[in-house]
Amino acid sequence: LVNYDYLIVGSGLFGATFAYEAAKRGKHVKVIEKRDHIAGNIYTKEQDGIQVHQYGAHIFHTSNKEIWNYIQQFAEFNRYTNSPVANYKGELYNLPFNMNTFSELWGVTTPAEAKAKIEEQKAVANLSDSEPRNLEEQAISLIGTDIYTKLIKGYTEKQWGQKATELPAFIIRRLPVRYTFDNNYFNDIYQGIPIGGYTQIVEKMLDSDLIDVETGVDFFDNKEEYLKDYPRIIFTGMIDEFFDYQLGELQYRSLKFETEEMNVDNFQGNAVINYTDSETPYTRVIEHKHFEFGKGDKGKTIVTREYPANWKRGDEPYYPVNNKANNELYTEYRKLAENQPKVTFGGRLGMYRYYDMHQVIHAALEAVSQEFKD
Ligand code: FDA
Repeated sequence: LVNYDYLIVGSGLFGATFAYEAAKRGKHVKVIEKRDHIAGNIYTKEQDGIQVHQYGAHIFHTSNKEIWNYIQQFAEFNRYTNSPVANYKGELYNLPFNMNTFSELWGVTTPAEAKAKIEEQKAVANLSDSEPRNLEEQAISLIGTDIYTKLIKGYTEKQWGQKATELPAFIIRRLPVRYTFDNNYFNDIYQGIPIGGYTQIVEKMLDSDLIDVETGVDFFDNKEEYLKDYPRIIFTGMIDEFFDYQLGELQYRSLKFETEEMNVDNFQGNAVINYTDSETPYTRVIEHKHFEFGKGDKGKTIVTREYPANWKRGDEPYYPVNNKANNELYTEYRKLAENQPKVTFGGRLGMYRYYDMHQVIHAALEAVSQEFKD
């Protein structure tokens, strides 16, 4: 029997980064993963020569040079720039909201004309001076009615499964508006997609004689034994599930993915198209080959439709819902966590935070430096 120093629950980016760093320091690590593959939600799989993002579009972006250098140890990145297109009842608009969008919407050609139009729209809405009471009022007060109606309302209502007039205003604190012809969605300095997919990153992180990985193993099938047998546990599953939901359930949003192989070279001409009306049941259509500039077999393409869904126990918890009530409940779970000195809770589900990939790596490296005091 091997004596492990660590049990890591979950082989996503948090668990894998921690495993890699622990092994680098000579520690013996066991990783268990309940899915039948490693890499968590960044998992990509090749089909028809195309890297298919199995759990939704993943674009790496950061302004942190250290994190950017760190991830490049494990893959070479291409120059992909996220520039989604919105489809509203057949009308196409560039995102994020920028001069291209304004020109498409109103035929304006200069930033001054665009600003005037937005001011005019806000005035038409005739909102009171009081605080916006819901998401609809907030959005209109920031950007006016046209953009709200065509590009925000339907998409947001589908995403959250609630009417915009019933959603809290804070979901939209600000809306990025750009008065330049720039369709780059992110403001970060570094951005790209790993050539050959994301799974190789986690594979390389876990490729060590000191790391053993078992997939298809759920921590909760043997929780008490794991707690007894391992000196330290890094847990990247759901923190409320770890405590058997004893304080109540945290809320999550789930997603359903519908993937289709098509016998055409190019289905939609862009990696990501958002469907912003409320009639189309899906929010996004991803055509994976465009993440790598059309790489893949001739005459084939893979397309995924993304449907938002309510979460209930047993579903995949893709997004934490970080509203006030949930964050307070999470704080209560954190107190329980402090009575578990053997266990460190990490990652998107363990810390109940909507982390992007660069933030998860950052959080994992922080946990590593706390652990090893180096
Ligand atoms: P992750 O969920 O990846 O890993 C946790 C692992 O633990 C999973 O593999 C799970 O199966 C396993 N597990 C859970 N419970 C277990 C148990 N009881 N026993 C054993 N194993 C268990 N980020 C970004 O930077 N750019 C982007 O474009 C996107 N896009 C995006 C789209 C969508 C649809 C989603 C849902 C997310 C993104 N992200 C993103 C975020 C990104 O996916 C996220 O930051 C990382 O995958 C989080 O890594 P973790 O290791 O924290 O969790």
